[in-house]
Amino acid sequence: MTAPHKPASTSAPIHHIISHRWSPRAFDSRPVEPEKLRSLLEAARWAASAYNAQPWSFIVATKDDPENFQRVLECFVEFNQSWARHAPVVALTAAFLKFPHNGQPNRYAFHDVGQAAANLALQAAEFGLQIHQMAGIDPEKARKTFGVPPDYEVVSGIALGYPGDPAALPDQLRERELAARERKPLAAFVYAGQWGNPSPLVKP
Ligand SMILES: Cc1cc2nc3c(=O)[nH]c(=O)nc-3n(C[C@H](O)[C@H](O)[C@H](O)COP(=O)(O)O)c2cc1C
Repeated sequence: MTAPHKPASTSAPIHHIISHRWSPRAFDSRPVEPEKLRSLLEAARWAASAYNAQPWSFIVATKDDPENFQRVLECFVEFNQSWARHAPVVALTAAFLKFPHNGQPNRYAFHDVGQAAANLALQAAEFGLQIHQMAGIDPEKARKTFGVPPDYEVVSGIALGYPGDPAALPDQLRERELAARERKPLAAFVYAGQWGNPSPLVKP
């Protein structure tokens, strides 16, 4: 068995890198070329952000730096460690919680870290790479391990690499790896006129 292809089944045409992005748990051991990794981070850099505050930071470790790879990995919850340890690259994202121009709270900080992560994920898909983002992390452990300053919050973990053979996964995870990707229909979240009233644009 090789890595599955899991393109989205869409109700309207979308760009192929959007439909071909997905979140694997089985990764190939093949390292990610440093120039591709740099492009992924460059894509993140060009995300839009409120007041152009660019609140994102990334702590990145590749397997050829085993000590730092392990330090990042150990900030993930055990379940996520169990599969993410096979990825060639792991990362943590963090948000700067204040606007640099006036020191006021930035309520869009997490939103914009998410935009940067989405850019990174799409650039990865363009290269045949995939990322798997994780809420299952220990942010306080990450803060202590990496000396994250007080005005920052650690947001998420990322495992990154070329998708691998799901046969390497335990049974339950293999099933999830091979299952079809699902989404709510557009009419469930695109409204017009009144909250909950599906927009005519997306009525089936
Ligand atoms: C912010 C965020 C947190 C997530 N947390 C986890 C996690 O802790 N563990 C996990 O296995 N998957 C996690 N996921 C992956 C989602 O379950 C996955 O994106 C979702 O099921 C949709 O699948 P797709 O990305 O393949 O389209 C997370 C995804 C995001 C964006």
